[in-house]
Formats: sequence, structure tokens, C-alpha cells
Amino acid sequence: EDVNKGDFPHYMLKEIYEQTETIQDAMRGRLSREEATSKLGGLEMTNAELRSVERIILTGCGTASHAAMVGEYIIEELAHVPTEVEFASEFRYRNMPLPKDSLVFVISQSGETADTLAALRESQRKGHRTLGVCNNVASTIARESDGGVYMHAGPEIGVAATKSFTSQVTILTLIGLLLGRIRHMSTTEGLRIIDELEAIPAKVAKILEQTDHIKKIAEKYSGAHSMMFLGRQFNYPVALEGALKMKEISYIHASGHPSAELKHGVIALISADVPSVFIAPDDSVFEKNVSNIEEVRARKGPIISIATEGNTKIEKVSDDVIFIPPCPDFLSPILTSIPLQLLAYHTAVTLGCDVDKPRNLAKSVTVE
Ligand code: G6P
Repeated sequence: EDVNKGDFPHYMLKEIYEQTETIQDAMRGRLSREEATSKLGGLEMTNAELRSVERIILTGCGTASHAAMVGEYIIEELAHVPTEVEFASEFRYRNMPLPKDSLVFVISQSGETADTLAALRESQRKGHRTLGVCNNVASTIARESDGGVYMHAGPEIGVAATKSFTSQVTILTLIGLLLGRIRHMSTTEGLRIIDELEAIPAKVAKILEQTDHIKKIAEKYSGAHSMMFLGRQFNYPVALEGALKMKEISYIHASGHPSAELKHGVIALISADVPSVFIAPDDSVFEKNVSNIEEVRARKGPIISIATEGNTKIEKVSDDVIFIPPCPDFLSPILTSIPLQLLAYHTAVTLGCDVDKPRNLAKSVTVE
């Protein structure tokens, strides 16, 4: 490991802090104000080819699969192209009928995950153009894919993926913007999205300033044996990712769910000992999330909310709140995922866990 930790006690914390730059690096040179779109030359596809794409499949494992799920919401919102996510480990065992003009993206930080590589090869065998979203430029997936978009996030050493998630979501947003602009999206809308993307790194910095506050929350709940992570729409996959981070490094059992699914089973698990983390920014489903929070409160479940600055309503229904700056709904996962990374990190440190090398896990799983 020739990358050093600098002033940080762990690689994971260093990588969480790097996100102000890595998100920028994922966009660098890829936004054109002149054309109000993104430029992704690595796709090696003409606008006519991109316009004929009828379906997009996003695949990957672990954190990359959660980024893919966020991407599904984003691409459908911005480009109205039907998009589907499949775990790379299931892709080759499922006989997914795909239209001829399907475009497959394999998402992998390392570019070496065995299941993701197998999905790439299976997709190519079926004749689909298969593109990579990788960080490691010298990887097998980067080499074998038909093109793609590099993350340029720098080495990620911490086993629990952090900066690669926000880079992947940023790139999937660029893909949504590109596909939207050659279909129905107006110049003004394209420019608005560029402005909002460019504003993200400064907002990430504001979230990182709250690390001490998040640490106190982590300490308060670190005795929990089980935690719930709940979110809706763009933030449903963030709930899955928040739960994954918590499990991976703190070994606290955690599960992520769409908030409204609570009443179909999960609510049976709620008690005063089971904290629920609600990802509830000011978006089109905020009020719905508040109703779900009320259901948990009625069962005495402690509530930690991730919400938008200035929202006073959330404070009345939550035990603890971590605020993020305002942003459009489709960009919120980039911001809401960061407090959850810090929450998992500080919980694991409080419990004395080996944050960078959690038990039983490998940075890259190169066996099936
Ligand atoms: C392992 C790591 C995860 C990672 C996943 C996919 O399980 O522990 O953090 O998300 O592999 O890795 P990839 O390199 O394909 O993105």
C-alpha cells in the first residue's frame, strides 16, 4: 500500500474526506456549458447510436449495485430510458430477455470482481454493447469492456467502499444528462443540471464539517444490536448502502428498506432498542417519509434523520438529525450517503473495530 493515510487514522476516513475532490474528478472535463450536456468520449458511441438505445442494464456487486440502483432512478428521471438493475452475480444465471438495442453498464471500482467480469462476458456473448464504469484503469473489466467511463477517484484502500459510490452516482448522472439531452431535455434544464452538479463538492464539504456531531450520534447508538435504514425513491438505495456500511465495519445487524415497506413486515422489529435511520431530505416524498417516521415513533423506535437544512418539522419527529444542504431530488443520494458513511465509521471506531480491514471481507472478490 503505497498510498499513505496522511493525517487520518484510517484510509476509510481519508477516502470519505476525499469526496470533495473525487466527485469533481468524476465530472472534470466532462461537462459542456456550450451544449448544456455531458461529454463522455469513452463510451465511443455517436449520438445516433445513443439515441437508439431502448433499454439500459446496470450491473455490479455490493456498493456498486447500490450505485446502480440510484442510477436506475436517475437515468429514468433525466432520460426516460427504461433502466433495470441486476446483481452481477445473478445476471448470468437469469435469462433476461433484452431488446437488441440494449446497453449494458458493468460498474466496478476494482474492475476485478469475478461476478461482474462474468456478467460483462455474458452480456458480450449475447451481443450487447457492454461498457465499464471502473476506477482501476488497468483492470480486466476496463480492458475487456467495449468502452466506458473511468471514475478517476484515486486508489480506494478501505475495504468498505465510500468515494467510489459517490463517483459512480456522479457518472450515472452524467450518463442520464447525456441521454436526456439527445432526447427531450431542454438546454435550460441541461444547464440547470450542470449548475447543480458543480455545486455538489462545496455541499459535500459542509457535510464533512459535521463529523463531530455525527460522531456523538454514533456513540449514542453504538450499543444497538440492530438498526434499520429507511428511504424512498432516489434514497431507497441509499438506505441499502447505509445499512451495508454499518454491517460491514461495525458488525451491527442492519437492514435497508423502502420506508413504505415498513408496514408490510419490518415494523414488527421496531422497539426502543432498534434505532431507525430515515433518509428524508426535502424532496417529493418528504411528507410520506414523515408519516413513516410517525409509525416508528408510535412503537417507541428511536429516529435518526438525514434531512435538509432549515427543515424544522423533522426535528420535531426525530431524536437526532443530520442536515445536508438543499439540492435537487435526483442529486440527493450523493449528499445523503456521506453522513451514513460517517455514522458507520464512527460507530465502528467507537466499538473498537478494524475499520479498514473488517473481518471476513475482501476489497475485491475475485472468486465466484
Ligand atoms: C467487495 C467490497 C465492496 C465492494 C464490492 C464490489 O465486496 O468489499 O466494498 O462494493 O466488492 O467491488 P467492485 O470493485 O466491483 O466495485
